[in-house]
Amino acid sequence: MAFTGKRILLGVTGGIAAYKAAEVARRLIGAGARVKVVMTRAAQEFVGPLTFAALTGEKVATAMFGPDRDPLEHVALGQEVDAIVVAPATANLIGKVAGGIGDDLLTTIMLAATRPVLICPAMNAEMWANPVVQGNLARLQGRGLRVMEPAAGPLACGAVGLGRLPEPDLIVEAVAGLLSPQDLAGRKILVTAGPTHEDFDPVRFLTNRSSGKQGYALARVAWRRGADVTLVSGPTSLPAPYGVKCVMVRSARDMGTEVKALFPEMDALLMAAAVSDYRPIQAEVRKIKRAHEEMAFHLTQNPDILKQVAPLKSQQIVVGFAAETHDLETEARRKMREKQLDLIVANDVNRPDSGFQVDTNEVTLIPRAGDPLPLPLLSKEEVAVKILDQVVALLKTRDGVLVKNA
Ligand code: PMT
Repeated sequence: MAFTGKRILLGVTGGIAAYKAAEVARRLIGAGARVKVVMTRAAQEFVGPLTFAALTGEKVATAMFGPDRDPLEHVALGQEVDAIVVAPATANLIGKVAGGIGDDLLTTIMLAATRPVLICPAMNAEMWANPVVQGNLARLQGRGLRVMEPAAGPLACGAVGLGRLPEPDLIVEAVAGLLSPQDLAGRKILVTAGPTHEDFDPVRFLTNRSSGKQGYALARVAWRRGADVTLVSGPTSLPAPYGVKCVMVRSARDMGTEVKALFPEMDALLMAAAVSDYRPIQAEVRKIKRAHEEMAFHLTQNPDILKQVAPLKSQQIVVGFAAETHDLETEARRKMREKQLDLIVANDVNRPDSGFQVDTNEVTLIPRAGDPLPLPLLSKEEVAVKILDQVVALLKTRDGVLVKNA
């Protein structure tokens, strides 16, 4: 994700996880952001301002008052940046902001802030479960601040439970959500990704080169834009995207079962998975032994998932992909007709830098009605943004038609 040109205020409060905030700052800068750090007095007991100054290249703000302080800094800082992240956020900081108390630079900035805010609580498990803390968090959420659920695991106090600061990568992903347009808020999006595995026997299977990268990028970007996202994924080695419900499957038939069950409640389906068209007629229960010089397998067709959901379609937008080596546009248009799609992503998989496994892709977006949109070689996340732009437009058109027919 690119944060180029974005300015983030990182608030650090006094918990043991304060040291992890240095890594959060580093990752945000790595993604292209400029980071201004504001530390509470207690935070400085755990880690020194110099660490953050060295990482960010900017002076760290630690106090409201002092000879070299701008008296209006507390107002300006929270309004000039693109987003505010507090990581870690202690129960004390959460309580003060919820109660409208501004008794230091960070709390005052937050009370005067007009920019989106992400709170990343980190504390002891009992403190986290305390109804007062939960009530304060609910008040902050009610005012539009976003709160990240802490992670479970061993805590500094020796106990094991909920309360750990989420991993820096996840915090950066949540910040990406904060900075994205929320044009898919309230929409339910189903994405498929990855290959399928069609078993010959307990140790061998038929598959393809899909890594899942394009489908996972779609799920990530849809979540950032506010959608409620479910990802049905074939076997991949990718981490589950933050905020996305993941359903892991193996075979085309498993994927079909999940997609058909979920489809009716969705606003859109984006079928980026490379589903195996065939499977062995029979999967052997025992490992097949080396015996003959030659060996033949009989395959049978898998059901076409997109064709199966077509009759279930009410108001859903359905997007298919076409991975082709020849006659790209002709083949893509044929699949769009046969599978009754609203949009097809024609994917040239001949190039070494496009299609399977790589981080970039070159596609043409072909809508059922309208002109094709050829895109240059882009990162898979950038391709996901372009596809979702089309989905947003199709959903708006659909809403207009639904209102007219109501
Ligand atoms: O995963 P990556 O490594 O990032 O690679 C990305 C990708 C190349 C896999 C992806 O961009 C892509 O093109 N996905 C579709 C690949 C494909 O199998 O296309 P197809 O032409 O065979 O199928 C056409 C459409 O029908 C696809 O949307 C497919 O999901 C769907 N299909 C296919 C077979 C089947 N039995 N049921 C289906 O629904």
